[in-house]
Amino acid sequence: MPSVTRLLLLLVVLGAVVATTGCSHVRMALFMRKDNPTASDPDTLARGQQVFAASCASCHGDRADGNGPRASELEAVPTNFLAPEYTKSAARIAARIAYGRGDVMPAFAGTLSEEAIWDAANYLHSLQKAPAQR
Ligand code: HEC
Repeated sequence: MPSVTRLLLLLVVLGAVVATTGCSHVRMALFMRKDNPTASDPDTLARGQQVFAASCASCHGDRADGNGPRASELEAVPTNFLAPEYTKSAARIAARIAYGRGDVMPAFAGTLSEEAIWDAANYLHSLQKAPAQR
C-alpha cells in the first residue's frame, strides 16, 4: 500500500476514534455541522417543551430560568436560558444537550433520540430574546 494511502487510512481511523470516544469539543463540532432535522417542523417547539419539562426542568427550572428544585444541590449553576446575554444557536444548544459538560451537565445522546435533542434545542432557542451569535 502506498504510504499516502496508509496515512489517509490512519487519519480516518483516528478521526473515527475521536468522533466516538474522544474530546467532547470535537464531538460537539461534528454535531454542529449536522442539519437540524426538525427546523421546519411546526410541532417541534411543543415537543421540545415536553422534553424539557420531563428531563431538564428539575435542574434548569420549569421556566428555563436556571432555578429548578435540584439547582441548589449542584456544583455548577444551571444555565438560565432567559438571560438576555444567552445567545447560542440551536445547533450549539443541541450539541451541548447531546454531549453535556463533564460532571455538571448530563449527556443525553444515549437517552434521548436525536430528534428529541433538536426539539429541546429549538424550544430553548425560541426563548431567547436576542438573535443567535454562535
Ligand atoms: C442534573 C442537572 C441538569 C439536568 C437534568 C440538565 N441540565 Fe443542562 N446544565 C446543567 C448545568 C449545571 C449546566 C451548566 C454547565 C456549565 O456551567 O457549563 C447546564 C448547561 C446546559 C446547557 C449549556 C448552556 C451553554 O450554552 O453554556 C444546555 C444547552 C443545557 N444545559 C440543556 C439541557 C437540556 C435541554 C436538558 C434536558 C434534556 C438539561 N440541560 C438537563 C444541569 C442540568
